[in-house]
Amino acid sequence: MEGTKETGLRNVGSHCSISDNDDYDLSRLLDKPRLNIERKRSFDERSLSELSTGLGRVTLDGLDSAYSPGGRSGFNTPASSARHSFEPHPMVGEAWEALRRSMVYFRGQPVGTIGAGDHASEDVLNYDQVFVRDFVPSALAFLMNGEPEIVKNFLVKNFRLKTLLLQGWEKRVDRFKLGEGVMPASFKVLHDPIRKTDTVVADFGESAIGRVAPVDSGFWWIILLRAYTKSTGDLSLAETPECQKGMRLILTLCLSEGFDTFPTLLCADGCSMIDRRMGIYGYPIEIQALFFMALRCALQLLKHDTEGKECIERIVKRLHALSYHMRSYFWLDFQQLNDIYRYKTEEYSHTAVNKFNVIPDSIPYWVFDFMPTRGGYFIGNVSPARMDFRWFCLGNCVAILSSLATPEQSMAIMDLIEERWEELVGEMPLKISYPAIESHEWRIVTGCDPKNTRWSYHNGGSWPVLLWLLTAACIKTGRPQIARRAIELAESRLQKDSWPEYYDGKLGRYVGKQARKQQTWSIAGYLVAKMMLEDPSHLGMISHEEDKQMKPLIKRSASWTC
Ligand code: GLC
Repeated sequence: MEGTKETGLRNVGSHCSISDNDDYDLSRLLDKPRLNIERKRSFDERSLSELSTGLGRVTLDGLDSAYSPGGRSGFNTPASSARHSFEPHPMVGEAWEALRRSMVYFRGQPVGTIGAGDHASEDVLNYDQVFVRDFVPSALAFLMNGEPEIVKNFLVKNFRLKTLLLQGWEKRVDRFKLGEGVMPASFKVLHDPIRKTDTVVADFGESAIGRVAPVDSGFWWIILLRAYTKSTGDLSLAETPECQKGMRLILTLCLSEGFDTFPTLLCADGCSMIDRRMGIYGYPIEIQALFFMALRCALQLLKHDTEGKECIERIVKRLHALSYHMRSYFWLDFQQLNDIYRYKTEEYSHTAVNKFNVIPDSIPYWVFDFMPTRGGYFIGNVSPARMDFRWFCLGNCVAILSSLATPEQSMAIMDLIEERWEELVGEMPLKISYPAIESHEWRIVTGCDPKNTRWSYHNGGSWPVLLWLLTAACIKTGRPQIARRAIELAESRLQKDSWPEYYDGKLGRYVGKQARKQQTWSIAGYLVAKMMLEDPSHLGMISHEEDKQMKPLIKRSASWTC
């Protein structure tokens, strides 16, 4: 079948498997042992009928235990310290302790980690919930430490929850019914000590500030399912009808036909980690990169049964079109910028060079100075007559990890990070976006959002969680020294500042204006970065080898080869 050779999909009867050769065989490359946990078929098969539904809630009657950060915290020595002979940084122990304190329990089982343990803040908002995207670095830390249980529970619980919501009632925002495959942004476990019930309340965007849709949640769920499968060798979870259906539902939402003329996914503002108005509506890089990665994960995990096959065919076609589009039109380097600068406009027909009719005068001044001779990156957004030239960290790192970026492009992204270290890393890794939007533009684009003032929060703020993504990208491109430099910066401040959610300022010197302390993904992101550097074979959980069938057709810019 088209595309299967390089993507490593093995058709074993109606089953699929992920072989160790599917991705960069880092263990061979780096001469390190892989985490080899015996294959288990231990998927918890308790039936859904055990669960009773209520309005907007899933209730388990007669069950003790609930959301209890710290309740079972007891700091267990991380298995890694037993496995490895290195002397861990003193921060590592505290980080593990804090991560364990953030664990959320449902029916006595750990099912996730809370957003932030900073209950001193006057307004907890929804930071006491388990966010799907925030849980990813926690999950990776647990997997790398040989503790897959919480990840399994999270994947299953979340999916059960979703299935239940599909069966019991409809997901709505006011009177509008949401798509079947929509995954929640977050969920909360409530414990009623009198009735002894655990209740899960999920937020599909209907309570979220601004009612934003968490487009990235479903992608992260699929990505995590593959990470779990790769790390444990336990295929039985991904092969359950529930998980197979979950993947199909999530992707059906994205693969359905509409008015699109591009293979990229059309999104509303605030649909990802940047969950407030920030001018990222349209085709944001953050979502396109995650979409690409989720498609590649699903391709490995979906069974070749009747329903699976149909989905697989659509995925393969979309991957080809998406990689071509992204590599051709989102890529910017010195040469490409110079070409756009000299674009003619109003070109009609197939021979048009300036396909999206981008008007050169719309190129912002800063990008001419920012662009090094060596290096390049995927820009923030491309749509008719609109290119958002901003740099977004997550999208570019995920592009490297998923091999949406070609090896040359991946190298160029790392070159850019090195060349523009002060701008993108500064004193605290890492800028979520660059540069900040200021003055009148800030008013228009953010709607005068006081949280997103210049060089703060999503508007050019520095987010320690991004450290794990940078580290993974560094390892994949063979440049771990860049990650080491960034980790050292984080180590000089993070613990002292009580693990803030984000930092402010052009250099990221100030603890963010409204940053939570004890932010779980800042803690987990640091741990994952450390563990990956110590044992780079962990990268296999989250990385994909280049698919040679998706080679770009565009010419390479001079800066890729210098
Ligand atoms: C903020 C962030 C979002 C994160 C949430 C919980 O809303 O923008 O990305 O998931 O906090 O930490």
